[in-house]
Amino acid sequence: MNRREFVQAATGAASGLLILQPRTVFGFDANSAVRHGLLGCGNRGTHVATSFSQNTTAQVVALADLFHDQLEAGQAHFNQVNAGLGRATIDNSLLFHGPHAFEQLAASSAVDLIQISTPPFFHVQHLAAAVDAGKHVYCEKPVGIDVAQARHALEIAKRVKPSQSVDVGFQCRNAPPIAAIGEKIQSGALGKVASVSGYYYAPASVEKVVSGASAEEHRLRNWLWDRALSGDILVEQNIHIIDLCNWMLGAHPLKATASGGRNVLTHQGNCWDNYQVDFTYPGDVRLSFSSTQFGSYGLFEAGLRLFGADGAATVPYAGPVQIVGSQAWSWTESMNTSAAQGKFAANGGFGDNLAFADRDKERTFIDSIVSGKMHNQIAAGVETALSCMLGRMAGYQQREVTWEQLLAHGETYKLGMDLAEFSSR
Ligand SMILES: NC(=O)c1ccc[n+]([C@@H]2O[C@H](COP(=O)([O-])OP(=O)(O)OC[C@H]3O[C@@H](n4cnc5c(N)ncnc54)[C@H](O)[C@@H]3O)[C@@H](O)[C@H]2O)c1
Repeated sequence: MNRREFVQAATGAASGLLILQPRTVFGFDANSAVRHGLLGCGNRGTHVATSFSQNTTAQVVALADLFHDQLEAGQAHFNQVNAGLGRATIDNSLLFHGPHAFEQLAASSAVDLIQISTPPFFHVQHLAAAVDAGKHVYCEKPVGIDVAQARHALEIAKRVKPSQSVDVGFQCRNAPPIAAIGEKIQSGALGKVASVSGYYYAPASVEKVVSGASAEEHRLRNWLWDRALSGDILVEQNIHIIDLCNWMLGAHPLKATASGGRNVLTHQGNCWDNYQVDFTYPGDVRLSFSSTQFGSYGLFEAGLRLFGADGAATVPYAGPVQIVGSQAWSWTESMNTSAAQGKFAANGGFGDNLAFADRDKERTFIDSIVSGKMHNQIAAGVETALSCMLGRMAGYQQREVTWEQLLAHGETYKLGMDLAEFSSR
């Protein structure tokens, strides 16, 4: 533990949480814990819910998943996590399975917070159920994979009550080095920003093979390969960098041109394996964005660089986070870490600059609930999702697309399968 982690752990400074007695912090007093229900017991969902358990007062009390094997694995994992923290095992009545599991979880009075970690196609449907049931919600990005879902999410945002807190899983904003440089950029450390370059180079996802699976089940298990289920790599994965750019510039792009395609991947699915997008932001600020998602040779790099009249900023997932120019600055702790590539983690559990992103995001969210200073991040999440859809539409249609044209187009993706067929899986 370095000095900063120690200070944060000792004082709760990252979260602003009050220092509670250990019995309360670790949930022996059931009334003090935020009762946490995980919807989607997969890779990311399990990672984030475990991190909530280890770093906040949230306690996993319920699990839901479309597939029985996933639910069972989640049950075994969280019973172990709970045991390690001196907490009760998950009651069998709070294990929900099948296509209606999300509604059953939402209807449960034993749950305060629902974490939505299902494939992107389902996020908005699941968000509606959780918000309308009055739960606090932690919803993974993207908030919607098409314009129709984005519009629906904005309607849901209006129904969030003052007693509810809703966060969207853009944890990179909370990574301490990125939060620090973001603040400097927003307060003008670069002078007038002229242009930005962003990149996201990731390996291919590994195929999930389940015995006895139908073609549709295989498609659903490998949702990352599928445009309707994931939104394509720009909307599903690259979104973190576009989100950082929007946040640092304080705006969304006004138009985009793009190219890309599927040059290497040959497996089932229709997502592209590379994108090159030119976004134009207000003030004629340009973001040149490039991404790849293929190969198994260990390349994983993501980040952005912002170029201003008085300085330039470098914001990588791994390596030095710094500003050169009249207000030169650097995050010294990251200078001590390896400037080599960050370790790829499909569950978002990165090392290097993102090492504490999840922890600090989760603490801030739970703090909003405990303090009563609720969040409603749905509209901001939608704005970033639409920004990515803008680039995707420009690429698919091979023409310049404006924000207004995107909204007017109203593209709608269809799932093309009935989840009822998985009721017995
Ligand atoms: N913030 C990040 O850095 C980050 C990183 C990785 C993934 N994610 C996001 O997390 C989400 C989950 O990704 P993952 O990698 O864990 O996927 P995964 O396939 O490992 O897990 C998804 C889980 O949802 C279940 N599921 C599928 N459809 C369902 C439905 N209709 N109802 C209930 N359960 C259903 C699956 O059975 C599976 O257990 C995605 O939205 C992804 O974009 C975010």
